[in-house]
Amino acid sequence: MTALDPTGPETPELSLAERAALGSGADFWTTKAVGPVPALTLTDGPHGVRLQAEDADHLGISASRPATCFPPAVGLGQSWDTELVSEVGRALGVESRALGVDVLLGPGVNIKRDPRCGRNFEYFSEDPQLTGTLATAWVRGLQSTGVGASLKHFAANNTEYDRMRSSSDVAARPLREIYLRAFQQVVQQAQPWTVMCSYNRINGTYASENRWLLTDVLRGEWGFDGAVVSDWGAVQDRVASVAAGLDLEMPGAGGTTDAQVVAAVEAGELDAASVNLAAARTAALAARGRAGRTLPVAPFDPAAHHALARRAAANSVVLLKNDPVEGAPVLPLTAGRPLAVLGAFAAAPRYQGGGSSHVNPTQVDVPLDEIRALAGNAEVTHAPGFTTDGTGDAAALRAEAVALAAAADTAVVFLGLAAHQESEGFDREDIELPREQLELLAEVIRVQPRTAVVLSHGGVLRLAPVTAAPALLDGALLGQAAGGALADVLFGRVNPSGRLTETAPVRLQDTPAYLDFPGEHSHVAYGEGLFVGYRWYDARDIEVSFPFGHGLSYTEFAYSDLELSADEEGISASVTVTNTGDRTGREVVQFYVSKPGSAVVRPLRELKGHATVTLDAGASERVTVLLPRAGLAYWDTRAERWIVEGGAYEVLAAASSRDPRATASIELVGDELDVPLTLDSTLGEVMSLPGAAETLTALLPFPQDTGDGDALGIDMARMMASIPVRRLVSFAGGAVTTADLEELLARLQS
Ligand code: GLC
Repeated sequence: MTALDPTGPETPELSLAERAALGSGADFWTTKAVGPVPALTLTDGPHGVRLQAEDADHLGISASRPATCFPPAVGLGQSWDTELVSEVGRALGVESRALGVDVLLGPGVNIKRDPRCGRNFEYFSEDPQLTGTLATAWVRGLQSTGVGASLKHFAANNTEYDRMRSSSDVAARPLREIYLRAFQQVVQQAQPWTVMCSYNRINGTYASENRWLLTDVLRGEWGFDGAVVSDWGAVQDRVASVAAGLDLEMPGAGGTTDAQVVAAVEAGELDAASVNLAAARTAALAARGRAGRTLPVAPFDPAAHHALARRAAANSVVLLKNDPVEGAPVLPLTAGRPLAVLGAFAAAPRYQGGGSSHVNPTQVDVPLDEIRALAGNAEVTHAPGFTTDGTGDAAALRAEAVALAAAADTAVVFLGLAAHQESEGFDREDIELPREQLELLAEVIRVQPRTAVVLSHGGVLRLAPVTAAPALLDGALLGQAAGGALADVLFGRVNPSGRLTETAPVRLQDTPAYLDFPGEHSHVAYGEGLFVGYRWYDARDIEVSFPFGHGLSYTEFAYSDLELSADEEGISASVTVTNTGDRTGREVVQFYVSKPGSAVVRPLRELKGHATVTLDAGASERVTVLLPRAGLAYWDTRAERWIVEGGAYEVLAAASSRDPRATASIELVGDELDVPLTLDSTLGEVMSLPGAAETLTALLPFPQDTGDGDALGIDMARMMASIPVRRLVSFAGGAVTTADLEELLARLQS
């Protein structure tokens, strides 16, 4: 990437008008070809290529070319498998190249702040470290094929309601430590070709014209060297956007905003250097795209990609519970035994979300067919049991399904949310499964104790009513091969190893943003601060249906011998994992870190690293993971930088955020943090300095502790602690001036 010259045009042969033209698309999906700068094609992602042949839209309405629909992030994220995610990224790159796409619009790394957000299916997790780690793998995989990524939606785009106007009002620490952190990790570890600014405002300023966000932080602090593209229709003011560091407005505005840019430069209202920078970055992106087209890449093999989609989906299924019935677990199923497969989704699977990410799949596995293919010579009956559009005779549909359940050896009930219940563009009002589905399940369980439930959904559900079933698989949304993958897991061809990336709450009322979502009058307050997801439930010791990181297996694992070491890179954690069961399985070993006695407010524990390991029955392996020092830092709002505190850190090796298997502690040397004490510091803050107490209290006209208990029966030191030093002038009745106090502070800090 050539160094950008902010003083002169990177593309000297172009006029101002031509450079302005480069900064806005030619149409819905392509950039302009201007002089020597070629055009590029961008399109959605993130879990399949959505290339529209004719009519164009950003909501998945018009038809697109067939492409593999891989598991959306809500599903793929449950694999916690960076190698698998990278493999999917590479496959998406192959298909992008085959369809002539230069930039695939993804991954989405917004944090799942509230389960009602209609777009959570497109995002990885409630945790920024897991999100950043998986998205980094995705970008590296995609870009290895010469196709660029577009890291989105930058930033704090955590609701669909009023998304093009609403201001995400977030305090500095949660903004840095939760909502920007995954973006920072991906930018610095995977160098995405583009970052897509979001629709919303952040603390009152549109992302598309937020210089602090797009230039000071993204480029100045993180070193991003690609192009910033707008979300489609996110530019509110093109001139202000160019000044803030937005390089490419999409879709193109037919040249209208190009003229505004030229006029603003000519009127002295916009610095030409900003236009030059945007043009240079768009030109550099075009050059990258052209170079990417020359990279040798495998031809697109739909069957091979479907097989990958099936493997990815199978490794993303979470076994939430598998209680024994009459002494034997319900899952895995035994081929040859009569089976009742119930629920509308068994014949018409829900496997992706609605909106701009909607893919036209190359093929779709039907769960019922795939189950029948693995069931041996057993009778496999089916009844829908309900409809997803409220039509039909609910009682009759239910009775038909219940009768089949009673007649079979085991019932498998497919439940979930229909496409119209959740999507990009709107949020849910609740997290409930439809009543008719819950009524069906209750009656099935009554007649058939051996019942397994399979869930298909993008946003988290209230699972309490479903946990009456002895076996429960969370299929989230698994892409076009969901049917085959679920059959593989149900029959044990694949041992489930997925883990929840979002907490399943007992009630919506227990959730962190319950009172602050989706906002009103175009503001949404992030009142929960740092405490999103499991950080919230753990801090408030709130019971959950299933915790972040939870997932069972058809085998079991034990952890032992956790050892820690530390150096300038961070904490290295090693633990031995043993498969104590009777079949091969994959374990997701999670490492959470606590900072006892922290000087700042912190969550009880935070995920700081993980590893996956596949072990045969009886086998053991020592797993070592680096927990990077940078990941242990908090954002200090006084120093306005990341700080790693000194002192003891507690590391948990765990099978979920609430299933610690081994714990150890280690001391770290902290970063220097000199927060100078000023006249606006309080007595409490200053008293920590040697010699401050006696000096300052002598200035106070208050009765001092006579040594035989407080004069007024109260703790004066605590009472005085919140007095800013500057105020002693008034309390001392003129006996001391601010100059005296400044000299005193200087002496105390010398
Ligand atoms: C949509 C989405 C964005 C998508 C773009 C193009 O509105 O917010 O994720 O990439 O527009 O379809």
